[in-house]
Amino acid sequence: QTIFLSDYTPFGWLIDSVHLTFDLAAHATRVISRIAFRPNPDAPAQQFFLHGKDLTLINARIDGQDIQPDISDEGLSCPVPEGSFIWEAEVEIDPTNNTALEGLYVSNGMYCTQCEAEGFRKITYYPDRPDVMAVFTVEIKGPHPVLLSNGNPQTVGTGHAIWHDPWPKPSYLFALVAGDLVAHSDWFMTASGNKVDLNLWVRPGDEGKCAFGMSALKRAMQWDEQVYGREYDLDVFNIVAVDDFNMGAMENKGLNIFNSSAVLASPETSTDANFERIESIIAHEYFHNWTGNRITCRDWFQLCLKEGLTVFRDAQFTADIRSAPVKRISDVIDLRTRQFPEDDGPLSHPVRPESFQEINNFYTATVYEKGAEVIGMLKRLVGDSAYAEALELYFARYDGQAITIEDWLAVFEDITERDLTQFKRWYSQAGTPRLSVKETYGSGSYTLTFTQHTPPGSYSPDPQPQVIPIDVGLLNANGDEVLETQTLEMTEATQSFTFEGLASRPIPSILRDFSAPVILERDSNNDERAFLLAHDTDPFNRWEAGRALARETLCAMATKGSAPDTRYLDGIRSVLRDKALDPAYRALMLELPTQSELALFMSDRGLTPDPAAIYDAVQSLKQAMAEQLRENLPTILDANIVRQEYKPDAVQSGKRALYGAALALMSRLDDGSLAAMQYAQADNMTLQLGALSCLLEVDKGALELGAFYDQWQDDRLVIDKWFALQITRATPDRAVAVTRALTKHPDFNWKNPNRFRATLGALTGNHAGFHAADGSGYELLADWLIRLDPVNPQTTARMCTAFQTWRRYDASRQALIGAQLDRIAATPDLSGDVTEMITRIKAAA
Ligand code: ARG
Ligand code: ZN
Repeated sequence: QTIFLSDYTPFGWLIDSVHLTFDLAAHATRVISRIAFRPNPDAPAQQFFLHGKDLTLINARIDGQDIQPDISDEGLSCPVPEGSFIWEAEVEIDPTNNTALEGLYVSNGMYCTQCEAEGFRKITYYPDRPDVMAVFTVEIKGPHPVLLSNGNPQTVGTGHAIWHDPWPKPSYLFALVAGDLVAHSDWFMTASGNKVDLNLWVRPGDEGKCAFGMSALKRAMQWDEQVYGREYDLDVFNIVAVDDFNMGAMENKGLNIFNSSAVLASPETSTDANFERIESIIAHEYFHNWTGNRITCRDWFQLCLKEGLTVFRDAQFTADIRSAPVKRISDVIDLRTRQFPEDDGPLSHPVRPESFQEINNFYTATVYEKGAEVIGMLKRLVGDSAYAEALELYFARYDGQAITIEDWLAVFEDITERDLTQFKRWYSQAGTPRLSVKETYGSGSYTLTFTQHTPPGSYSPDPQPQVIPIDVGLLNANGDEVLETQTLEMTEATQSFTFEGLASRPIPSILRDFSAPVILERDSNNDERAFLLAHDTDPFNRWEAGRALARETLCAMATKGSAPDTRYLDGIRSVLRDKALDPAYRALMLELPTQSELALFMSDRGLTPDPAAIYDAVQSLKQAMAEQLRENLPTILDANIVRQEYKPDAVQSGKRALYGAALALMSRLDDGSLAAMQYAQADNMTLQLGALSCLLEVDKGALELGAFYDQWQDDRLVIDKWFALQITRATPDRAVAVTRALTKHPDFNWKNPNRFRATLGALTGNHAGFHAADGSGYELLADWLIRLDPVNPQTTARMCTAFQTWRRYDASRQALIGAQLDRIAATPDLSGDVTEMITRIKAAA
């Protein structure tokens, strides 16, 4: 059943208060609701309908009178009085058998909830839509020492608790937790002097992994006050870590629930990358308190209203407290890895979709990451101070409301008096624009002519020109900047920009800081790329020049058997030796494009990617890099070993990143002997896992792999790494076999989403292994998707995206994937989630 944005109708009633009582029991939890409804004067007349799924209705009353509603799979309806009335119902649910991890479920003996987007209807009958906001009081009865819900505690004791949330909220922000938990506690004083109790609740045994998450929370709270003027608004802020969770985390009002992988950290068990991710997710969920909770979405088509903005805010936070260029580059890598393939394939959809079947399938890189890019463009176009004013107005005008993208854009129009009609196409048009550029120079005048073109897709058959902010700087042949960065505002299909008074033909640096999520198609050459790699003053574009050189040389190596381009190797060596450059940045410079990025790049050029050839090209380029840097590696390793006590900060983690990248190259020269030594001595997970990875990459490390398991077998998050690394590092001919063997390992608890992703997800990330020519990777994935679907449709549906690029590959692989898609589609009782995904993927022309 497809739902359309254009069909939006407000709910016929407003809610004055919600009172819920939970009587917790493993298989028969009772939920009693008492809801005060009042007619909504702004809504058309309609039948009274409440969502409800997998509920057993025990009784229902209106104004104290028993009623017999009409019940369907989706909810219930019944006649109601004309004016206000009190709805009461009692339902029974089975949290223990709730393996979908949506609604109220049990994870390791602990009760928890996930209601976004439409999970609340699995808890009780309710208008489960974001535009119905209400004040909740929640009473919990259960034998657990810790009983939590949203808002402020009123009565709290073992066996009984009452929570009251004074802020009206939609049902998707409801949360409840009950279990045997311990708190890591701290406090925060808001700018206006309210003391907030902060608790991070974990299972006994995980207390030692809380300190970093707590400090990240305090940094986020302070940053949101300083940069956005946003203060926290309750007496307590709780975070709970759970092991079974479909996503990273959830911003429930005052009670954030986190996948334990997104909050628990210690130097011994977590890598620097884990720490950074945790910091950004904690910030993200915290920032939702204003962008998402106080101001929420009118309907789920507006998801990017809260997600795009909150991703944008968490990226600003990370850029501020760590390194801005490193954050920007990492985000662009991520955008190209996850969003570009989505935007260019059968799952393509606009940042604000206009129809869907299952909203859970639209928590995508497009809504989140492209949604954040759109906000970045808007800020670039209006400028920092207008952006700040618009946001002030946004918070003032819409606090307590459920709104739309039109409302969001209105504050920018009001502050700047700009007409954003054309800009709004970024929200409605799918597809990644291609931006090509031509240049002319004569008598001091230099002209750049841009042409934009978005390939038509099923969502946007006839794309129109978009507003593209293009940041440009000009360099002279000595590498001096002759024109500082300017933002050109492109609005036409083809448009020229002229720069006067230049002494000689400049070298342009285009799309600095990746000022728009487009694919720049520039008729450049490797000499110019090498020049920019050496001289560009924009850190993003300097990195980009190196990346482009790497892409070009890898593409030539994979398709024509060319030798590695010496301009790349020489350029990388100079960058690496430049001690003025941040180690984290140099480490990014050493990273090669991913194999899937190369596949995408080739098919964009009309070539059919050969996964095995791409893999071989990457291997030989790495070998060539190692040879090229033979003399330099010892110095780099020596200069970047961290001898101080471990800190997960930007400085130390940058050094460890560069050390790790150098160690990987060194392992190709010394057969892993330095890596083996480092593995033995490692006292932090970054180095331990990094060294193990280097060993596996040169086909060593069998002993260490066993020792790693023995050391960490009781730490589920570390064992996830152990599963994933073996698959990620397996050679293409072994990846499927390694994965299959691991699915037979006693620790392969496939119902746990983290473990499933660490195994099958890792396989899909091993490009050449997953795309093994015999189709065994496709078949293994399909087997497991079919098995997981009845248990957890959401995680299954998400992993179907591994097939979204199938039309880029050769006829044989397409046939093999097509057969697996058909097999999945033909599975009896396939979930709606997966049905929608497979149908869309198959529809690819
Ligand atoms: N709102 C959460 C976030 O912070 C994600 C929740 C996703 N839920 C889902 N069912 N897809 O981004
Ligand atoms: Zn979010």
